[in-house]
Parts: sequence; C-alpha cells; structure tokens
Amino acid sequence: MTVPAPHAPSRFVRACLRQPVDRTPVWLLRQAGRYMPEYMAVRKHHSLLEICRTPDIAAEVTITAAERLGVDAAIIFADLLLPFTPMGLDFEFVNGEGPVVRTPVRTLEHIQALRTDRTDDLRYVADAISRVAKHFSAPRPPESPGSDPAGACGSAVQDQLGIIGFIGAPFTLASYMIEGGSSRNYIETKRLMYASGVATPPSPHLSPLAEEANSALSSRPEHAWHPEELANLQPVTDSSTAWPLLMAKLLDVLTAYAAQQVEAGADVIQIFDSWAGALSPTDFRQYVLPYTTELVHRVQALGVPVILFGVDTATLLPLMRETGADVIGLDWRIPLDQGWRAIGPNTAVQGNLDPITLFAPPEIIKARTLEILALANHRPGHIFNLGHGIVPNTPVDNVVHLVDLIKRYGAHPQPARAAGEAASPWAIRA
Ligand code: CP3
Repeated sequence: MTVPAPHAPSRFVRACLRQPVDRTPVWLLRQAGRYMPEYMAVRKHHSLLEICRTPDIAAEVTITAAERLGVDAAIIFADLLLPFTPMGLDFEFVNGEGPVVRTPVRTLEHIQALRTDRTDDLRYVADAISRVAKHFSAPRPPESPGSDPAGACGSAVQDQLGIIGFIGAPFTLASYMIEGGSSRNYIETKRLMYASGVATPPSPHLSPLAEEANSALSSRPEHAWHPEELANLQPVTDSSTAWPLLMAKLLDVLTAYAAQQVEAGADVIQIFDSWAGALSPTDFRQYVLPYTTELVHRVQALGVPVILFGVDTATLLPLMRETGADVIGLDWRIPLDQGWRAIGPNTAVQGNLDPITLFAPPEIIKARTLEILALANHRPGHIFNLGHGIVPNTPVDNVVHLVDLIKRYGAHPQPARAAGEAASPWAIRA
C-alpha cells in the first residue's frame, strides 16, 4: 500500500489514497478518443502512433480532452503497446481491427530475443507528461457555474488536476504479443502459460474441493494423459521457461517505463490488465498474479498510488486486491457496492458506469450515475469513472452532462472539525 503523500492537493489523488474529499472525483477511460471532434481533427493529420510519439501533440490531445470535459484527472495520451517497439516487436494499428503484431511471439527463442535495454526510446511519453504537468501545475479556479450548469453545490475549493500515467499489465501485453492482436479465446497465450506447468500454491480463496482438484492435477503423471488429449496438444513452445521469461522481461521494461512517467510528473499510474477477465481465478492466481503483484509493488516503490483495472473481473476482484494496488477499477457488470465488498474496505475503487449508457436519454444517464454515487455512499476512496472506455460515436454532450452530474451530486459532507483546527477542506480524519 502506498504511503500517503504529506501533501496531496488533488481530490483525485486523495481519493486514490482513501482520504476524505470535498466531492467524488471523476475522469473517464478513453476520455481523449474518436468520439471527440477535437481529437478527430488532430487524427485527420496524424496517425495514432504519430500522435503518441510527438510530445507536443500528445500533450495537446491530453489537455484538450481534460479541459473540454472538466474532469479531475488527465490520462496521458499514449497506447498500451508502445513498449513493444523498443523490445524489438513491430506492430501497427489497422483501421477497424485494432493493434496487429505481424510476427507474434510463439517460441522461447523469440522471447529470448526480446530486448529490455532500450526503454529510453520511450521517453517521448515522459516528455508529453512533463508538458501536461507543466500546463496543469497551477491550481484550477473554483468550479464555476459554467461547468456546473445546474448551479447546485459543486465546490468552492481550488484543486489541482491529477495526472495519470499508464502501462499495460504483463498478461494483457503478453496476450497482444502472442495472439498478434485482439483475441476471443486467448488460445496461444494460455498454451504458453500452461506450458510453464502446474504448481498451484495452496490458496485461502479456493474451496476444499478446488484444492483437491488442483492437487490431483499437480500430481497427475504425464503418462496419465489420454492419447486423444495428447493429440490435441500442439507444442507452441520449446520449454516451460518461456512464460516466466516473458513475464520477467515485461516486468523490467514496464518498471523502467513507469519510472520515466513518474519522474516526469505522473501523480498516479494506472495498470491496464484489460483482458485478465479471460482467465479463471485459478489460472489468474497461478500464472498472472505473482507478476502483476510484483509490478504493483515496483510502481508503488516509485512513490505513487497504483490503479489496477480489468474488464470482466467480478470473480477476480479478491485476487486483484491481493496485488496491494491502491485502487481497483471495476467494470459495469458488478454493482459498485458488491465489487467494493469483494475487494474489502482498505482499497479504493474506480468506476463503474456502463459506457454504453452514454447513448441513453439524459434521465437514464442521471439515474444510473446517481445509483453509483449512492452505492459508494461518500465512503472515502471512490473515483467515478466508466466501467470501460468511451466508444466512438458517443455523444459528447452526454459525456459533459455526466461530468456535470458528478459535480452537482457528488459533494461529500465535510468531516466535523476539531476545535481550533484550520478550516481546510483537506482536513484528514485521523
Ligand atoms: O484518453 C484516453 O484514454 C486515450 C489514451 C489511450 C489510448 N489507448 C489511445 C488509443 C489509452 C489509455 C489506451 C490504452 C489501451 N490501448 C488499452 C487499455 C484500455 C482498454 O481499453 O482496456 C488497450 C487494450 C489498448 C490497445 C488498443 N489501442 C486497442 C485495442 C485499440 C483499438 C480500440 C479501438 O477503439 O479501435 C487501440 C487504438 C487506440 N488507442 C485508439 C486510441 C484513441 C483508437 C484508434 C485511433 O485513434 O485511431
């Protein structure tokens, strides 16, 4: 768990650390994206990778989105797959298809050839963060009626915008490397994973039945496989060391990349394990959790809180909590209070409106938003967000409406002050 900074002026960072805030902070996954005309105007002249690799443009896109929406945090404009290039793996974005790796990683030799010594090549992301941090270094003016059209409470407090850097989690990045792009079943990724063997540690979260099933699997001698099962097992890897080696290499690159972002001014690092929900809890625990946990600890050692996010993770939440991440991002498939219960009270939560609700009439958006605020019930440690990214064609007005709803209805009751205590909105309850 990250040690709270002695002075954390932004309500976003304070919420990450479960400190009291004047109102629930809000930012939105993929807030700079194709739904936004300002972004599309830039995209007309530059490819996605050009934007990412040109710090002035990446900073401009980041700042424009955050200011247009009036959110409490700016996520740096970059992409999960950028570290592939210095690792020696080419990829491109194909319209309508997402990222494509033409020569996917399928063998131990290929994994051995991946480089970990060129992370300096990613400095353009840190450079963009420096520009964004400089832009937002001044405290924002108090929330004005303009950004709070309903004229309701809002807040009269000056606040600094939070700056979010991000990296992919080892599993999600490995899945793009191994599958060569987006995937439905993650067959090659899981094959490589399973090739590293079965060594399930006893788990307090597994039922006795599951423990029994696991120990039966661990003790199953190789010759016990049915010949038909064996016929279906195609060797994609030469060795059981492939998966751990790939994870170790990703960990080193991601740690260095996160360090660059923190040095440049990122207040918080979000780790996207977007596709972890493809895994059973048992596989997540055995093949992924140790590496994600190590990554969380390494990033926290840089002195910033960590948000860990994935999609379809309802059954993985207790395991995600075990990583020690400061904040867990929830998708919309689980009611927020239920998700928070699964995570426990000592971790903050981020979420979790269905992004497609933004296509609904305003009264539905309002009802769903107020429901989430009610489920969070002003407990310290809730950051309002979507359950996944804003999709193309989302009406911008609805996105602005959503942010204004949080400003209007997200105010928290102020904690009672002890006699003589300064009238600071940031007074922390002991
Ligand atoms: O404001 C923001 O959040 C935008 C910054 C951002 C991008 N990618 C730019 C981008 C962020 C935070 C990401 C992270 C990312 N990239 C993730 C994790 C987030 C998630 O959705 O779970 C993932 C899985 C990727 C990989 C990736 N990049 C995919 C699957 C795609 C195609 C998705 C699509 O919408 O087509 C991309 C492309 C991409 N990255 C776009 C943007 C704005 C859209 C394409 C474009 O502008 O041409």
